[in-house]
Amino acid sequence: MSNNNVTNQFPDDFVWGGATAAYQIEGAATEDGRGESIWDRFSHTPGKTLNGDTGDVACDHYHRWRDDIQLMRQLGLQAYRFSVAWPRILPEGRGRINEAGLAFYDRLVDGLLEANITPWVTLYHWDLPQILQDAGGWPNRETADAFAEYTDAITRRIGDRVKHWITLNEPWCSSFLSYHIGEHAPGHKDFNEALAAVHTLLLAHGKAVPIIRQNSSDAQVGITLNLSQVYPASDSPADQAAAHRYDGYFNRWYLDPLYGRGYPQDMVELYGDRVPPTEPEDFNIIAAPTDFLGLNYYTPTFIHDNPDAPILRTGAKRWEGHYTAMDWLVYPQALYDQLLRVPRDYPTGPLYITENGAAYFDQPPTPEDPHVHDPERTDYYRQHLAAAQRAIADGSPLKGYFAWSLMDNFEWAWGYTRRFGIMYVDYETQQRTIKDSGHWYSQVIASNGINDR
Ligand code: FCB
Repeated sequence: MSNNNVTNQFPDDFVWGGATAAYQIEGAATEDGRGESIWDRFSHTPGKTLNGDTGDVACDHYHRWRDDIQLMRQLGLQAYRFSVAWPRILPEGRGRINEAGLAFYDRLVDGLLEANITPWVTLYHWDLPQILQDAGGWPNRETADAFAEYTDAITRRIGDRVKHWITLNEPWCSSFLSYHIGEHAPGHKDFNEALAAVHTLLLAHGKAVPIIRQNSSDAQVGITLNLSQVYPASDSPADQAAAHRYDGYFNRWYLDPLYGRGYPQDMVELYGDRVPPTEPEDFNIIAAPTDFLGLNYYTPTFIHDNPDAPILRTGAKRWEGHYTAMDWLVYPQALYDQLLRVPRDYPTGPLYITENGAAYFDQPPTPEDPHVHDPERTDYYRQHLAAAQRAIADGSPLKGYFAWSLMDNFEWAWGYTRRFGIMYVDYETQQRTIKDSGHWYSQVIASNGINDR
Protein backbone atom coordinates (compact mmCIF):
# COMPACT_ATOMS: atom_id res chain seq x y z
CA MET A 1 0.00 0.00 0.00
CA SER A 2 2.60 2.53 0.93
CA ASN A 3 5.11 3.48 -1.65
CA ASN A 4 8.71 4.43 -1.03
CA ASN A 5 8.84 6.77 -3.99
CA VAL A 6 6.25 9.20 -2.61
CA THR A 7 7.71 12.68 -2.53
CA ASN A 8 6.03 15.85 -1.37
CA GLN A 9 5.81 17.05 -4.96
CA PHE A 10 3.05 16.59 -7.53
CA PRO A 11 3.75 15.96 -11.23
CA ASP A 12 4.80 19.11 -13.12
CA ASP A 13 1.65 19.36 -15.20
CA PHE A 14 -0.73 18.77 -12.28
CA VAL A 15 -3.75 21.12 -12.40
CA TRP A 16 -4.75 23.04 -9.25
CA GLY A 17 -8.19 24.55 -9.02
CA GLY A 18 -11.18 25.54 -6.97
CA ALA A 19 -14.83 24.71 -7.62
CA THR A 20 -18.30 26.21 -7.22
CA ALA A 21 -21.76 25.79 -8.74
CA ALA A 22 -24.17 28.36 -10.16
CA TYR A 23 -27.09 28.05 -7.78
CA GLN A 24 -24.82 27.90 -4.76
CA ILE A 25 -23.04 31.21 -5.41
CA GLU A 26 -24.61 33.38 -8.10
CA GLY A 27 -27.74 34.84 -6.52
CA ALA A 28 -29.50 37.29 -8.88
CA ALA A 29 -32.19 34.67 -9.16
CA THR A 30 -34.62 36.76 -11.18
CA GLU A 31 -32.18 39.06 -12.91
CA ASP A 32 -31.55 39.49 -16.63
CA GLY A 33 -34.31 37.13 -17.64
CA ARG A 34 -33.25 34.06 -15.64
CA GLY A 35 -36.05 31.50 -15.47
CA GLU A 36 -37.10 29.54 -12.41
CA SER A 37 -35.19 26.36 -11.57
CA ILE A 38 -36.23 23.39 -9.46
CA TRP A 39 -33.98 24.71 -6.70
CA ASP A 40 -35.80 28.07 -6.63
CA ARG A 41 -39.10 26.27 -6.30
CA PHE A 42 -37.80 23.76 -3.76
CA SER A 43 -35.97 26.23 -1.52
CA HIS A 44 -39.02 28.51 -1.49
CA THR A 45 -41.20 25.61 -0.35
CA PRO A 46 -41.48 25.70 3.46
CA GLY A 47 -39.59 22.92 5.23
CA LYS A 48 -37.33 21.90 2.37
CA THR A 49 -34.13 23.71 3.37
CA LEU A 50 -32.72 24.49 6.80
CA ASN A 51 -34.00 27.88 8.03
CA GLY A 52 -35.85 28.27 4.74
CA ASP A 53 -32.59 29.42 3.12
CA THR A 54 -32.66 30.03 -0.63
CA GLY A 55 -30.13 30.86 -3.34
CA ASP A 56 -31.85 34.19 -4.12
CA VAL A 57 -28.75 36.16 -3.16
CA ALA A 58 -26.22 33.49 -2.16
CA CYS A 59 -22.70 34.95 -2.56
CA ASP A 60 -23.92 37.53 -5.05
CA HIS A 61 -21.25 36.25 -7.40
CA TYR A 62 -23.38 37.35 -10.36
CA HIS A 63 -22.37 40.91 -9.47
CA ARG A 64 -19.07 40.27 -7.71
CA TRP A 65 -17.41 37.95 -10.22
CA ARG A 66 -14.67 40.45 -11.01
CA ASP A 67 -13.60 40.67 -7.37
CA ASP A 68 -13.90 36.92 -7.05
CA ILE A 69 -11.51 36.44 -9.96
CA GLN A 70 -9.04 38.75 -8.20
CA LEU A 71 -9.29 36.54 -5.12
CA MET A 72 -8.68 33.44 -7.26
CA ARG A 73 -5.58 35.16 -8.57
CA GLN A 74 -4.44 35.93 -5.08
CA LEU A 75 -4.81 32.25 -4.23
CA GLY A 76 -2.85 31.35 -7.34
CA LEU A 77 -5.57 29.09 -8.79
CA GLN A 78 -4.69 27.71 -12.20
CA ALA A 79 -8.19 26.50 -12.99
CA TYR A 80 -11.71 27.35 -11.88
CA ARG A 81 -14.59 24.92 -12.12
CA PHE A 82 -17.99 26.61 -12.20
CA SER A 83 -21.37 25.65 -13.58
CA VAL A 84 -23.69 27.37 -16.02
CA ALA A 85 -27.27 27.95 -14.93
CA TRP A 86 -29.47 26.38 -17.59
CA PRO A 87 -32.42 28.70 -16.70
CA ARG A 88 -30.27 31.73 -17.49
CA ILE A 89 -29.62 30.41 -20.99
CA LEU A 90 -33.03 28.91 -21.81
CA PRO A 91 -35.52 30.32 -19.30
CA GLU A 92 -38.28 28.10 -20.68
CA GLY A 93 -36.00 25.07 -20.73
CA ARG A 94 -36.06 24.86 -24.53
CA GLY A 95 -36.54 27.20 -27.45
CA ARG A 96 -35.90 30.84 -26.73
CA ILE A 97 -32.29 31.70 -25.91
CA ASN A 98 -31.71 34.48 -23.40
CA GLU A 99 -28.90 36.69 -24.66
CA ALA A 100 -28.28 38.29 -21.27
CA GLY A 101 -27.63 34.88 -19.75
CA LEU A 102 -25.07 34.00 -22.39
CA ALA A 103 -23.46 37.40 -21.96
CA PHE A 104 -22.81 36.79 -18.26
CA TYR A 105 -20.79 33.64 -18.91
CA ASP A 106 -19.05 35.36 -21.78
CA ARG A 107 -17.78 38.05 -19.42
CA LEU A 108 -16.84 35.52 -16.75
CA VAL A 109 -14.84 33.39 -19.19
CA ASP A 110 -13.03 36.42 -20.60
CA GLY A 111 -12.24 37.62 -17.09
CA LEU A 112 -10.81 34.24 -16.14
CA LEU A 113 -8.69 33.99 -19.26
CA GLU A 114 -7.33 37.49 -18.70
CA ALA A 115 -6.34 36.39 -15.20
CA ASN A 116 -4.67 33.33 -16.67
CA ILE A 117 -7.13 30.95 -15.00
CA THR A 118 -8.45 28.05 -17.09
CA PRO A 119 -12.24 27.75 -17.03
CA TRP A 120 -13.66 24.28 -16.41
CA VAL A 121 -17.36 24.41 -17.11
CA THR A 122 -19.99 22.07 -15.69
CA LEU A 123 -23.16 22.13 -17.76
CA TYR A 124 -25.52 20.70 -15.18
CA HIS A 125 -25.08 21.21 -11.47
CA TRP A 126 -28.69 20.55 -10.51
CA ASP A 127 -30.64 23.65 -11.55
CA LEU A 128 -33.13 22.13 -13.98
CA PRO A 129 -35.58 24.70 -15.37
CA GLN A 130 -38.78 24.26 -13.35
CA ILE A 131 -40.84 24.22 -16.53
CA LEU A 132 -39.08 21.00 -17.54
CA GLN A 133 -39.81 19.50 -14.14
CA ASP A 134 -43.46 20.37 -14.71
CA ALA A 135 -43.23 18.29 -17.89
CA GLY A 136 -41.87 15.29 -15.93
CA GLY A 137 -38.30 16.30 -15.13
CA TRP A 138 -35.43 13.85 -15.40
CA PRO A 139 -37.64 10.75 -15.32
CA ASN A 140 -39.00 11.98 -18.67
CA ARG A 141 -36.67 10.89 -21.52
CA GLU A 142 -37.38 14.06 -23.45
CA THR A 143 -35.40 16.03 -20.90
CA ALA A 144 -32.28 14.55 -22.55
CA ASP A 145 -33.20 16.33 -25.79
CA ALA A 146 -33.78 19.57 -23.92
CA PHE A 147 -30.31 19.18 -22.37
CA ALA A 148 -28.82 18.67 -25.83
CA GLU A 149 -30.45 21.90 -26.97
CA TYR A 150 -29.12 23.80 -23.98
CA THR A 151 -25.65 22.30 -24.48
CA ASP A 152 -25.67 23.48 -28.07
CA ALA A 153 -26.63 27.04 -27.09
CA ILE A 154 -23.96 27.50 -24.44
CA THR A 155 -21.12 25.68 -26.20
CA ARG A 156 -21.71 27.67 -29.39
CA ARG A 157 -21.24 30.81 -27.40
CA ILE A 158 -18.25 30.07 -25.18
CA GLY A 159 -16.85 26.92 -26.82
CA ASP A 160 -14.20 28.92 -28.65
CA ARG A 161 -12.55 29.83 -25.31
CA VAL A 162 -13.65 27.09 -22.92
CA LYS A 163 -11.84 23.82 -23.59
CA HIS A 164 -12.70 21.80 -20.48
CA TRP A 165 -16.26 20.57 -20.15
CA ILE A 166 -18.09 18.47 -17.61
CA THR A 167 -21.53 17.40 -18.77
CA LEU A 168 -23.15 16.45 -15.45
CA ASN A 169 -22.26 16.83 -11.82
CA GLU A 170 -23.03 13.77 -9.69
CA PRO A 171 -25.94 12.12 -11.47
CA TRP A 172 -26.60 10.00 -8.35
CA CYS A 173 -27.66 13.21 -6.59
CA SER A 174 -29.86 14.44 -9.43
CA SER A 175 -31.56 11.03 -9.54
CA PHE A 176 -31.67 9.15 -6.22
CA LEU A 177 -31.17 12.02 -3.80
CA SER A 178 -33.74 14.10 -5.71
CA TYR A 179 -36.39 11.60 -6.89
CA HIS A 180 -36.08 8.80 -4.34
CA ILE A 181 -34.64 10.10 -1.07
CA GLY A 182 -36.34 13.45 -1.61
CA GLU A 183 -33.67 15.53 0.09
CA HIS A 184 -32.91 17.54 -3.05
CA ALA A 185 -35.16 19.23 -5.59
CA PRO A 186 -37.77 18.27 -6.67
CA GLY A 187 -38.09 16.25 -3.44
CA HIS A 188 -39.85 13.14 -4.72
CA LYS A 189 -39.78 9.74 -3.00
CA ASP A 190 -40.08 7.13 -5.69
CA PHE A 191 -37.33 4.62 -6.45
CA ASN A 192 -38.63 3.85 -9.94
CA GLU A 193 -38.69 7.52 -10.85
CA ALA A 194 -35.08 7.79 -9.69
CA LEU A 195 -34.02 4.89 -11.91
CA ALA A 196 -35.78 6.50 -14.85
CA ALA A 197 -34.01 9.78 -14.00
CA VAL A 198 -30.62 8.05 -14.11
CA HIS A 199 -31.35 6.76 -17.57
CA THR A 200 -32.32 10.16 -18.92
CA LEU A 201 -29.31 11.78 -17.26
CA LEU A 202 -26.94 9.27 -18.83
CA LEU A 203 -28.63 9.78 -22.20
CA ALA A 204 -28.35 13.54 -21.79
CA HIS A 205 -24.63 13.15 -21.11
CA GLY A 206 -24.16 10.93 -24.16
CA LYS A 207 -26.07 13.30 -26.42
CA ALA A 208 -24.13 16.30 -25.17
CA VAL A 209 -20.64 14.91 -25.77
CA PRO A 210 -20.63 15.11 -29.61
CA ILE A 211 -22.36 18.51 -29.51
CA ILE A 212 -19.62 19.89 -27.29
CA ARG A 213 -16.96 18.48 -29.59
CA GLN A 214 -18.64 20.05 -32.59
CA ASN A 215 -18.88 23.51 -31.03
CA SER A 216 -15.60 23.54 -29.13
CA SER A 217 -12.64 22.31 -31.14
CA ASP A 218 -10.04 20.26 -29.24
CA ALA A 219 -12.24 20.24 -26.17
CA GLN A 220 -11.60 17.89 -23.27
CA VAL A 221 -14.96 16.42 -22.30
CA GLY A 222 -15.88 14.38 -19.24
CA ILE A 223 -18.49 13.73 -16.60
CA THR A 224 -18.23 14.06 -12.82
CA LEU A 225 -19.43 11.20 -10.62
CA ASN A 226 -19.69 11.01 -6.85
CA LEU A 227 -18.83 7.39 -6.46
CA SER A 228 -19.10 5.85 -3.07
CA GLN A 229 -16.00 3.97 -1.98
CA VAL A 230 -17.79 1.00 -0.43
CA TYR A 231 -16.36 -1.35 2.19
CA PRO A 232 -18.11 -4.37 3.70
CA ALA A 233 -18.71 -3.69 7.40
CA SER A 234 -17.31 -7.14 8.23
CA ASP A 235 -15.68 -10.11 6.51
CA SER A 236 -18.90 -12.11 6.54
CA PRO A 237 -20.02 -13.32 3.11
CA ALA A 238 -23.41 -11.66 3.68
CA ASP A 239 -21.83 -8.26 4.31
CA GLN A 240 -19.51 -8.68 1.34
CA ALA A 241 -22.43 -9.49 -0.92
CA ALA A 242 -24.31 -6.49 0.50
CA ALA A 243 -21.35 -4.22 -0.24
CA HIS A 244 -21.26 -5.55 -3.79
CA ARG A 245 -24.96 -4.73 -4.24
CA TYR A 246 -24.42 -1.25 -2.88
CA ASP A 247 -21.48 -0.83 -5.25
CA GLY A 248 -23.85 -1.87 -8.04
CA TYR A 249 -26.41 0.71 -6.97
CA PHE A 250 -24.05 3.62 -6.40
CA ASN A 251 -21.12 3.02 -8.74
CA ARG A 252 -21.51 0.33 -11.38
CA TRP A 253 -24.98 1.50 -12.43
CA TYR A 254 -23.25 4.64 -13.80
CA LEU A 255 -19.78 3.40 -14.69
CA ASP A 256 -20.82 0.28 -16.59
CA PRO A 257 -23.04 2.05 -19.16
CA LEU A 258 -20.65 5.01 -19.47
CA TYR A 259 -17.88 2.61 -20.45
CA GLY A 260 -19.93 0.58 -22.89
CA ARG A 261 -21.14 -2.34 -20.78
CA GLY A 262 -24.79 -1.44 -20.36
CA TYR A 263 -26.41 -1.79 -16.96
CA PRO A 264 -24.80 -4.43 -14.70
CA GLN A 265 -26.67 -7.71 -15.00
CA ASP A 266 -26.78 -8.51 -11.27
CA MET A 267 -28.49 -5.18 -10.60
CA VAL A 268 -30.88 -5.51 -13.55
CA GLU A 269 -31.99 -8.80 -11.99
CA LEU A 270 -32.32 -7.25 -8.55
CA TYR A 271 -34.35 -4.28 -9.82
CA GLY A 272 -36.53 -6.37 -12.13
CA ASP A 273 -39.37 -4.36 -13.64
CA ARG A 274 -38.22 -1.22 -11.84
CA VAL A 275 -35.71 -0.72 -14.66
CA PRO A 276 -37.16 1.86 -17.07
CA PRO A 277 -37.74 1.01 -20.71
CA THR A 278 -34.59 1.52 -22.76
CA GLU A 279 -33.85 1.45 -26.46
CA PRO A 280 -30.89 -0.53 -27.82
CA GLU A 281 -29.36 2.61 -29.33
CA ASP A 282 -29.38 4.32 -25.89
CA PHE A 283 -26.33 2.42 -24.73
CA ASN A 284 -24.25 3.48 -27.72
CA ILE A 285 -25.21 7.08 -27.08
CA ILE A 286 -24.39 6.84 -23.37
CA ALA A 287 -20.99 5.29 -24.08
CA ALA A 288 -19.76 8.27 -26.13
CA PRO A 289 -15.96 8.35 -25.67
CA THR A 290 -14.80 10.92 -23.13
CA ASP A 291 -11.39 12.43 -22.39
CA PHE A 292 -11.35 12.22 -18.61
CA LEU A 293 -13.42 11.25 -15.61
CA GLY A 294 -14.15 13.70 -12.79
CA LEU A 295 -14.48 12.32 -9.27
CA ASN A 296 -15.97 14.13 -6.30
CA TYR A 297 -14.79 12.53 -3.10
CA TYR A 298 -15.73 13.32 0.49
CA THR A 299 -16.33 10.18 2.57
CA PRO A 300 -16.64 6.38 2.26
CA THR A 301 -19.48 3.98 3.11
CA PHE A 302 -19.40 0.83 5.24
CA ILE A 303 -22.19 -1.53 4.27
CA HIS A 304 -23.76 -4.47 6.04
CA ASP A 305 -26.44 -6.92 5.02
CA ASN A 306 -29.94 -5.97 6.16
CA PRO A 307 -32.62 -8.39 4.97
CA ASP A 308 -35.35 -6.03 6.21
CA ALA A 309 -34.32 -3.08 4.07
CA PRO A 310 -36.23 -2.70 0.80
CA ILE A 311 -34.73 -3.46 -2.61
CA LEU A 312 -30.99 -3.38 -1.86
CA ARG A 313 -31.30 -5.10 1.54
CA THR A 314 -28.33 -3.13 2.85
CA GLY A 315 -27.62 -0.85 5.80
CA ALA A 316 -24.80 1.60 6.51
CA LYS A 317 -22.64 1.23 9.60
CA ARG A 318 -21.23 4.22 11.42
CA TRP A 319 -17.46 3.92 11.62
CA GLU A 320 -15.21 5.15 14.43
CA GLY A 321 -13.29 8.28 13.59
CA HIS A 322 -13.35 12.02 13.12
CA TYR A 323 -16.50 13.51 11.56
CA THR A 324 -16.92 16.88 9.81
CA ALA A 325 -19.81 19.33 10.28
CA MET A 326 -21.72 17.35 7.63
CA ASP A 327 -21.31 14.31 9.89
CA TRP A 328 -19.11 12.80 7.19
CA LEU A 329 -16.26 10.51 8.30
CA VAL A 330 -12.75 11.70 7.44
CA TYR A 331 -11.09 8.69 5.82
CA PRO A 332 -8.43 9.56 3.22
CA GLN A 333 -7.55 5.91 2.56
CA ALA A 334 -10.84 5.63 0.66
CA LEU A 335 -9.73 8.35 -1.73
CA TYR A 336 -6.53 6.42 -2.37
CA ASP A 337 -8.50 3.19 -2.91
CA GLN A 338 -10.96 4.88 -5.26
CA LEU A 339 -8.21 6.51 -7.31
CA LEU A 340 -6.77 3.05 -7.98
CA ARG A 341 -9.96 1.02 -8.23
CA VAL A 342 -11.85 3.09 -10.80
CA PRO A 343 -9.16 3.21 -13.50
CA ARG A 344 -8.33 -0.46 -12.83
CA ASP A 345 -11.92 -1.53 -13.53
CA TYR A 346 -12.78 0.98 -16.29
CA PRO A 347 -10.90 2.64 -19.17
CA THR A 348 -11.36 6.10 -17.69
CA GLY A 349 -8.30 7.84 -19.09
CA PRO A 350 -7.07 10.75 -16.95
CA LEU A 351 -8.82 11.36 -13.63
CA TYR A 352 -9.48 14.71 -11.98
CA ILE A 353 -10.69 15.21 -8.46
CA THR A 354 -13.32 17.80 -9.34
CA GLU A 355 -14.38 18.24 -5.70
CA ASN A 356 -12.89 17.44 -2.31
CA GLY A 357 -13.11 19.38 0.92
CA ALA A 358 -14.77 19.63 4.30
CA ALA A 359 -17.35 21.64 6.22
CA TYR A 360 -16.53 22.92 9.69
CA PHE A 361 -18.18 25.53 11.90
CA ASP A 362 -15.76 28.41 11.33
CA GLN A 363 -15.54 31.47 13.55
CA PRO A 364 -15.97 34.72 11.62
CA PRO A 365 -13.09 37.18 11.37
CA THR A 366 -13.19 40.09 13.87
CA PRO A 367 -11.47 43.49 13.99
CA GLU A 368 -9.12 42.05 16.66
CA ASP A 369 -8.39 38.91 14.67
CA PRO A 370 -9.15 39.38 10.99
CA HIS A 371 -8.19 35.80 10.12
CA VAL A 372 -10.30 32.65 9.89
CA HIS A 373 -8.56 29.81 11.68
CA ASP A 374 -9.69 26.46 10.31
CA PRO A 375 -6.94 23.96 11.18
CA GLU A 376 -9.30 20.98 10.79
CA ARG A 377 -10.04 21.90 7.18
CA THR A 378 -6.33 22.30 6.46
CA ASP A 379 -5.76 18.87 7.99
CA TYR A 380 -8.49 17.42 5.83
CA TYR A 381 -6.84 18.84 2.70
CA ARG A 382 -3.37 17.79 3.79
CA GLN A 383 -4.42 14.20 4.44
CA HIS A 384 -6.39 13.86 1.23
CA LEU A 385 -3.70 15.42 -0.92
CA ALA A 386 -1.20 13.03 0.64
CA ALA A 387 -3.51 10.13 -0.23
CA ALA A 388 -3.79 11.46 -3.79
CA GLN A 389 -0.03 11.68 -4.01
CA ARG A 390 0.36 8.08 -2.88
CA ALA A 391 -2.22 7.01 -5.45
CA ILE A 392 -0.29 8.78 -8.23
CA ALA A 393 2.94 7.12 -7.09
CA ASP A 394 1.14 3.77 -7.25
CA GLY A 395 -0.04 4.36 -10.81
CA SER A 396 -3.32 6.30 -10.63
CA PRO A 397 -3.76 8.59 -13.69
CA LEU A 398 -4.77 11.54 -11.50
CA LYS A 399 -4.02 14.81 -13.28
CA GLY A 400 -5.59 17.54 -11.18
CA TYR A 401 -7.46 18.60 -8.08
CA PHE A 402 -10.23 21.12 -7.39
CA ALA A 403 -10.92 22.20 -3.82
CA TRP A 404 -14.58 22.35 -2.85
CA SER A 405 -15.21 25.10 -2.41
CA LEU A 406 -13.65 28.34 -3.49
CA MET A 407 -16.02 30.09 -1.08
CA ASP A 408 -18.65 29.32 1.54
CA ASN A 409 -22.00 29.01 -0.20
CA PHE A 410 -25.56 27.69 -0.26
CA GLU A 411 -25.10 24.07 0.76
CA TRP A 412 -28.40 22.80 -0.72
CA ALA A 413 -30.79 21.40 1.91
CA TRP A 414 -28.40 22.65 4.63
CA GLY A 415 -28.72 26.23 3.44
CA TYR A 416 -25.97 28.53 4.70
CA THR A 417 -25.31 26.51 7.85
CA ARG A 418 -22.49 24.41 6.42
CA ARG A 419 -19.31 26.16 5.29
CA PHE A 420 -17.02 24.42 2.81
CA GLY A 421 -15.08 27.43 1.54
CA ILE A 422 -11.39 28.12 1.53
CA MET A 423 -12.73 31.69 1.63
CA TYR A 424 -15.10 32.78 4.36
CA VAL A 425 -18.21 34.65 3.19
CA ASP A 426 -20.03 37.05 5.49
CA TYR A 427 -23.51 36.77 4.01
CA GLU A 428 -24.60 40.13 5.49
CA THR A 429 -21.85 42.20 3.93
CA GLN A 430 -20.65 39.77 1.22
CA GLN A 431 -17.15 40.34 2.55
CA ARG A 432 -14.78 37.52 1.59
CA THR A 433 -11.83 36.47 3.78
CA ILE A 434 -9.28 33.89 2.69
CA LYS A 435 -9.23 31.28 5.48
CA ASP A 436 -6.01 29.82 6.87
CA SER A 437 -6.76 26.70 4.80
CA GLY A 438 -6.91 28.92 1.69
CA HIS A 439 -3.50 30.38 2.47
CA TRP A 440 -2.21 26.87 3.03
CA TYR A 441 -3.70 25.67 -0.27
CA SER A 442 -2.15 28.57 -2.07
CA GLN A 443 1.29 27.47 -0.83
CA VAL A 444 0.59 23.96 -2.07
CA ILE A 445 -0.18 25.40 -5.50
CA ALA A 446 2.84 27.71 -5.53
CA SER A 447 5.23 24.91 -4.56
CA ASN A 448 3.31 22.16 -6.38
CA GLY A 449 3.60 20.05 -3.27
CA ILE A 450 2.72 19.52 0.36
CA ASN A 451 5.77 20.95 1.99
CA ASP A 452 4.71 21.16 5.61
CA ARG A 453 4.20 17.48 6.22
C1 FCB B 1 -21.35 17.75 -3.66
C2 FCB B 1 -21.93 18.80 -4.57
C3 FCB B 1 -21.50 20.20 -4.24
C4 FCB B 1 -21.42 20.43 -2.75
C5 FCB B 1 -20.62 19.35 -2.09
C6 FCB B 1 -20.44 19.53 -0.60
O1 FCB B 1 -22.20 16.65 -3.62
O2 FCB B 1 -21.57 18.53 -5.90
O3 FCB B 1 -22.37 21.08 -4.88
O4 FCB B 1 -22.69 20.55 -2.23
O5 FCB B 1 -21.19 18.10 -2.33
